[in-house]
This record gives sequence, C-alpha cells and structure tokens, in this order.
Amino acid sequence: MSKLDKSKDLDLPASEREFLFEAIQQYAEDFLKQLPQQKAYVANSYNATDADAFFEINGDTKPINKILDVIKERVDGTGLNPASGGHLGYIPGGGIYTSSLGDYIAAVTNRYASVFYASPGAVRIENALISWAAKQVGYKQHFGGNITSGGSMANLIALYTAKTAKKIKCNNIATSVIYTTTQSHHSVYKALRLLGLDECVIRYIALDVDFKMNVGALKKTISQDKKNKLTPFLIIANAGSTDVGAVDDMPNIALIAEKENLWLHVDAAYGGFFVLTNYGKKTLKGLNLADSVVMDPHKSLFLPYGTGMVLVKKVQHLLEANSYEASYMQDTKHHNQEYSPTELSPEMSRNFRGLRMWLPLKLHGIKPFVDCLNEKIELTRYFCKELQKLGFELGNNPQLTVVIYRYKPKKGKAEIFNRNLLKRIQEDGRVFISSTEIHAVFWLRIAILSFRTHQKEIDILLSLLRKETQGR
Ligand SMILES: Cc1ncc(COP(=O)(O)O)c(C=O)c1O
Repeated sequence: MSKLDKSKDLDLPASEREFLFEAIQQYAEDFLKQLPQQKAYVANSYNATDADAFFEINGDTKPINKILDVIKERVDGTGLNPASGGHLGYIPGGGIYTSSLGDYIAAVTNRYASVFYASPGAVRIENALISWAAKQVGYKQHFGGNITSGGSMANLIALYTAKTAKKIKCNNIATSVIYTTTQSHHSVYKALRLLGLDECVIRYIALDVDFKMNVGALKKTISQDKKNKLTPFLIIANAGSTDVGAVDDMPNIALIAEKENLWLHVDAAYGGFFVLTNYGKKTLKGLNLADSVVMDPHKSLFLPYGTGMVLVKKVQHLLEANSYEASYMQDTKHHNQEYSPTELSPEMSRNFRGLRMWLPLKLHGIKPFVDCLNEKIELTRYFCKELQKLGFELGNNPQLTVVIYRYKPKKGKAEIFNRNLLKRIQEDGRVFISSTEIHAVFWLRIAILSFRTHQKEIDILLSLLRKETQGR
C-alpha cells in the first residue's frame, strides 16, 4: 500500500462489511417483523431529548449498534410510519422490500445512470421501464420519459417541456393562458412559479359535482380569452387528484386541446398505475391523449419514496427542452444507441434509480401489483358503505381510492367535532388519517393505497369512528 493511500478507513475489508451488513439486515428484519404491532402514527413525538445531540456531526465516531438504537428510537419511533398498513393519510404507498434491495445494489455498484456511454445497461433498464409505463398509458411510439425523484420533479419537467414546445418567453408570458382547477396538486403551482409561468394568466375552471373540470366552462373560457386577444397554451388536468381522487374527463378535454392546439398535461402521480387494473383502464380513459403524463411508482406502484415518472408523448419535445452539449462530454456523443436520462431531464449525475423499480417488477411480475390495486378499490367501496351506516356524510363519490367524509353531530359545530375526531384518531395512532378543506368545509380524508392496507386496518378506523360518534 502506498503512503498516499488514505482510504483504509473508508474502503472496508470484507469482514467489516459483513459485520455492518448483518447488523443492518437484523435491524430491517426486526422493523418488518414488528411492523404489524407498531403504530401508524406516534403523536407528540417531536420533543428534543438528549438522544438528539447524537444527531450532530462533530467528528466523533459511534458503533453501529448505538447508531441503530438511536435511529430506532428517534427516527423510526417518531411521527408518521409510512411503512405501516395503517397509514391512510396523504398518499401512502408502503414501500415494498425488494425495491430497497435494488437501491442497495445500485448504491454499492454506483452505476452512473445518466449517460448511455457510462452505463448502457442501467440506461437500457430505465428506458425499458419508461417503455413499459408508456405502453400502459397507451402511448404507441416516439414517446419519451424520465424516472425522477418524485411527482413534483416530474410535474416540473412536464411543464417546462410544455413551455418550450409552446415557445413561451418573456415577451408573451403575460398574455399566455393556462387552464386548470383548484384540484391540482400544489407541486403544479410550485412548478409554474419556478418556471416563471405564474406570470401567465391562470384560469381555475369550475368544478362539476365529482370535482372534475367542467368541460363546458373550459370551452367557454378559452373562447372568451381568444376574443380578448390572449393566447391559451396549456391545460393541466388531473387523473386522481390528491384531495379527492378526481379524474378529469380526459377524452373531452383532449378534443378541446387538439382543436385549440394546446398542450395537455395530466397529473396522474397518484392515480396513474391504476391503469394496470380493468377498472382503472375505464376510469382513466383518455390518458393516452395527453401530451405529458406524470405517474409515481412511489405511490400506486408501492415503491419506497424516491421514484416518480414523467412521460411525454413525443420524445422530441423532451429533448428540445433538456438536451445540452458540453465540450467535456464530447466522448459520450457517439455512444448513443438509446436516449440518456440526462438528455431528457434537468439532472446530470444521479443514482441508478431505475433498479429499485425494475428489480421488483422482475422478481414479482405485474400480477401482484394489479391484485393489490384491485384490493384498494374494493376496500374503498367497503369503507364508503360502512361509513354511511355509521351516519357519516360522504363528500365525494370516489373514482379511485380517496374519500372525504365528515360527521354532522346533533349538537355543536361540525367542523369542531370533526377536528377533534381527527385528533383522537391520530392520538390513538393505530391508523393515521388526514384532513382537507374544500370550499371552506372541513373534511376528514382517507387514501387507501398502501400495499399493506387490508380490511383489518379499515375495520380499526371504522371501530374508532363508531366509538367516537355513537349517540353524538
Ligand atoms: C396528484 C399529485 N401530484 C403530485 C404530487 C407530488 O408528488 P411528490 O410528493 O412525489 O413530489 C402528489 C403527491 O402526493 C400528488 O398526489
């Protein structure tokens, strides 16, 4: 070993690697074995303790067992437990185990998945995933896409691809018009702001009873805007809104988009992978007509957090918005049998994130995912039926697996009653639900999506709701 070699503390021998791996594997096994007994939410767990001083980086070293003890208590024992089947709030996915093994291999081998030249195999795997998802959506050919860190980044990529394709620049931004509804996720508005598109005219189209974009109102508003010398260029629709799982009427919106030459973006971050089911194919009809679609494997494909996906009908648009040349990258130029992720997204160096999706699909096939999604649809129907028996009011007729509901007590204000109800369920912690506010009305909200959610978890919630509302 040369005197210059200082890596011995970082480049571990096999015996030390095995020792660490064994401790971590044991930790993961204990976590998974105890999961059914663990709470979905640990309320009031945020107070600082002495253990938190342990988080500070100050050059001290600690043994792995001490480190794992602190992670267990101060990380995995606090707040929300997204791995739990009792997580019924926000948009849960659960996090399938085999995906974590993909992450492990990708991190150990550290493949450079951004450029075909650097890792043709990794790029081919990511492109195979894009092709598979695009075909589920109904795109036939010439499509492109990118595996992102999540839905927010995927929406950002889709929206600046739309901006580039429609040539929105400083000189026309103020007269360009975007159409969406108040059901769109806030990551869409964040993306518009990041792109400067919040300086466009943004029209919030009226909602129908099922929280869908009112297509008649969309048509009328576009025509009015054109009369007023504005330039409509983008429609942002939802295929499974976060609030209520609303699915917009994509076939009719797409007809308008085509006639008026507008870009149609569909945010299907939550709802997208329901296309794998027969019910989803009907409900999400028209997804193939969108110019861009976002669908998140870390939602309706149950992956652990860290994987979103953007699909664009014409790969040329993605390329025009993203590809750059640099002299120091010249060696990579002639090795481009396939598109590289870096040509199709703003990212350069990044991990081989496709492996966490590809490995589970290869190991399990597609059927178990379809079965789990069908189970969530059935559980949603079951929950709605039982909820109504308890006297709750439903706020939506669920198109997918999100339901909003509230109880109207005989005495007192409904909002206060439901806020307290939410607090008590969260304090119990066996299951976790969240809330929302629509048109100034407070609603309890359930999202049934984790692959670990079964009738048992739904029954726990129903029994809590029964107990808290009996005689009220
Ligand atoms: C419909 C929808 N779009 C976008 C997002 C943002 O996705 P992410 O949290 O992965 O960035 C979410 C998150 O829940 C969502 O439900």
